[in-house]
Parts: sequence; C-alpha cells; structure tokens
Amino acid sequence: MKILIVGTGYVGTTTGLIFCEMGHQVTGLDLDDHKIKALQAGKLHFYEPGLEDLLSKHVTAQNIMFTKNSKRAIEENDLIFICVGTPQCDDGSADLTYVKSVAESISIYMNRYKVIVTKSTVPVGTANLVTKWIKESQDEQIPFDVVSNPEFLREGSALHDALNPDRIVIGTTSETASKLMKELYQNFPCPIIETNPKASEMIKYAANSFLAMKISYINELARVCDDLKINVKDVSKGVGLDHRIGPHFLKAGMGYGGSCFPKDVNALIQIAKENGKPLSILESVVQVNEGQPRYFIDKMKQAFGGDLKNKIIAVLGLAFKANTDDTRESPSLNLIDRLKVEQAKVKVHDPIVKMAGHSDQFPVIEETVADADALVICTDWDEYKNLDWERLKLLMNQPYIFDGRNILDKGILESLGFHYVGVANH
Ligand code: UGA
Repeated sequence: MKILIVGTGYVGTTTGLIFCEMGHQVTGLDLDDHKIKALQAGKLHFYEPGLEDLLSKHVTAQNIMFTKNSKRAIEENDLIFICVGTPQCDDGSADLTYVKSVAESISIYMNRYKVIVTKSTVPVGTANLVTKWIKESQDEQIPFDVVSNPEFLREGSALHDALNPDRIVIGTTSETASKLMKELYQNFPCPIIETNPKASEMIKYAANSFLAMKISYINELARVCDDLKINVKDVSKGVGLDHRIGPHFLKAGMGYGGSCFPKDVNALIQIAKENGKPLSILESVVQVNEGQPRYFIDKMKQAFGGDLKNKIIAVLGLAFKANTDDTRESPSLNLIDRLKVEQAKVKVHDPIVKMAGHSDQFPVIEETVADADALVICTDWDEYKNLDWERLKLLMNQPYIFDGRNILDKGILESLGFHYVGVANH
C-alpha cells in the first residue's frame, strides 16, 4: 500500500517505519523544514533507541521519503494517517488546531476517495469533527472515510511496542475503510478491536488514565508505607502477581510525566466535566501526582533537619523516564524548580538530555556530584544503577542519596556509609 503519515514526531515516524517493515511505501509529511531535511538524511530529530537504524535502512532502500509538499503527498496517497501533536489548552482540554489544519489541507487537495486515520490522541468526537471539517471546506463532494486508530507505543521502547502491540483498535462505521485497515494490520499477531470512532477514541484516554491511576495509587500508598516502614516494592510485587491487577505501572517514584499521561488524564477529566459526569477518581490521580515531588522534597528537608538552604544537590536525570531525551512534564524539572525555591544549589546530569543554557549541567557524573551534599536520582537510567559508589562518596561533601525512582540497593549503600532515602524503599 501507499501510505501518507502527516506529522513526523515519535508516533508518526515510528508508525511510518513499521509500515515500511511490513512492505508498504511510505511518505512522511511535515511542515518543519529542519525535521524533513534531517529525516531525509536518515537522521532522527529526537532520541529513540533503535529507530535511527531503521530510518536509515528504509531511507536508503527508498521505502520512505519525507516532504513538505502537502498537495503532492495528499494527491498521491489514498491512506492518510494524522499523527500531529494535540497539546494541552489552558483549561486542560486537547488543542485540535494541528488536526484541523491537516483536515483542511486534505479537503483542499483531495482528488479521489481517501481513508483518513487519526492516530494522534484526540478527544471523543474528533473523527466526526474531522469529517465535518473536510466536508465544510470541500468544493466538490469527493467521498472519504475517517477512522480512529489510536497508538499505544511508549517513548523509549517505541519500536518494540509498535511491532508488538497488545491490541489494535479500529474505530470506523465504514465497511470499506474497515476492510482496508484490517488488511494493513493483517500480519500483527494480536487481537483487533473493531468499534465506532467515539469508542475507539475513548479507549485511548481510558487506557492512559488507567495506567496513570495505577501509578498514583502506588505513589499514595507508598506514603503510608513510608510511615509504617514497609517496603513498597514488596507490596507492588505481591499485589502485581494477582493476574487481575498485573505487575506493570506499579513502580512508586516521583510521579508520572511525559507528553501523554499528564495531558491525557486532564483531557479526559475535561471531557467528563463537559458532559456533567465529573471523573473524581481521575481528579485525585492528578492531585496525587502533583503532590509527589513535594512529598519527596519534604523527605529531603527532613533528612537535613528541615532546610535545604545552600545545600549543593546533584540531580541525576532530566528526562521524564529512561531511554528518551524528552523532558516534557518531567518530574525531575519539577523537583529542580522546587529545590531552587528552597534555595538549594542544583547541579544536574543526564546521559542524553542537554538543557540549553543550563549552566550547572555537567557531562560526567563525577563532576556533578563533586562537593554535593546530596545526590538525587530523578530518572531511571540504567547507568545510574551500578555506579562506583565508594568513589562517588569520596567526592561528595555529605553522603546523602535520595532515590526518587527506587532503583538503588539500600543495603549496599548503607553498608558503604551512605544515608539512603527512597520512596518507601525500606
Ligand atoms: C504512555 C503510555 O504508556 C503508552 O501506552 C501511550 O501510547 C503513550 O503514553 C502515549 O499516549 O503516546 P509514555 O508517556 O511514553 O507512554 O511513557 P510511560 O512508559 O507510560 O511512562 C509515563 C510516566 O510514568 C513516566 O514518567 C514514567 O517514569 C512513569 N511511571 C511508569 C512510573 O512512575 N511508574 C511506573 O510503574 C511506570
């Protein structure tokens, strides 16, 4: 098949490359000249393990090409995936400006029947809106169908997730479009859920919100475990082995971040409110998440006798999670801001993220922790798990470790003379 992907971020680029792997011919369309030039040269404009090799392979084999030319791209492709961003508006709802502008371009350049697929995370009712927007700006009525086909891949493991989905959701009322989509996904060994567009759109929000809820649940429970000196990791394990609950997304830490959970939970809350059926459970999920970095700072203050003023704090990790260079809604940045309010002196390190203009960022961990009163783990990067702790302790001013991700071995660190504080990691 010939497929057009509009929007070349994590989701668009990964989706396009997966389709290349399945033997399809893909065009990536984006308005950003920089991104197009980089991608056309086989270079990713973001960090995602394994993806650049695949990009370079398919660019070289000419299975994928990138363009800014909307007219030609839309005219030449009859299966179009919308993968543009849907940022958050001030009231928490999703901003559909980019989706709308893609819909309008499609309506202008549509030359024959098209199947238009929304893969971006969009509010319930967006597929119907896209249909309306296209119809409204069409000069002559050319037939088309709109399908909702949400994506469930995670940053940091995008390739693996896109190749091995748990399920594929196809939301459409058109038999023609449904047949085409099933043919497209025929080689994926997972269930295909066929439903209408609204249910499909809700599935995406419901899934992300449920995962966020698991995280907030374990984080709030961790606060109780902390008081009772219970190891929350043991609790997660014991609870997660129940098949009805499952072991994933039960890691207590500094709260969830990223470009999806915070935005999507708020968007679903907003949808519920607009319909007069507030989702109080999700409102609590947000509240707990926002309180988590504050909770952690309070533990740090307690360890230092109530005050972090003039303490030198080495923060390890800026990304919102390991294996990505994404810092959007990163709990780490939230913590850094709070540390500055507490008048602590902050030094930072991240293996991949370079914070533009961040004068206190250091390229190596040793330099970051030199003279520090405390070291804080904010991102679960593998390379922070097995550091030469004896050596680092000699470099530090005071041996305090705050493990915001529960990735270190408390026993080993304490035997080396560190004062260790995790998130109920007793
Ligand atoms: C999330 C979903 O997991 C994907 O299924 C979805 O496709 C994606 O959003 C999206 O909507 O595009 P992502 O944001 O890339 O993926 O990352 P996650 O692995 O879900 O992590 C989100 C946040 O939760 C991170 O800050 C992570 O550190 C935190 N987390 C995750 C925990 O604090 N504890 C856990 O046990 C798991």
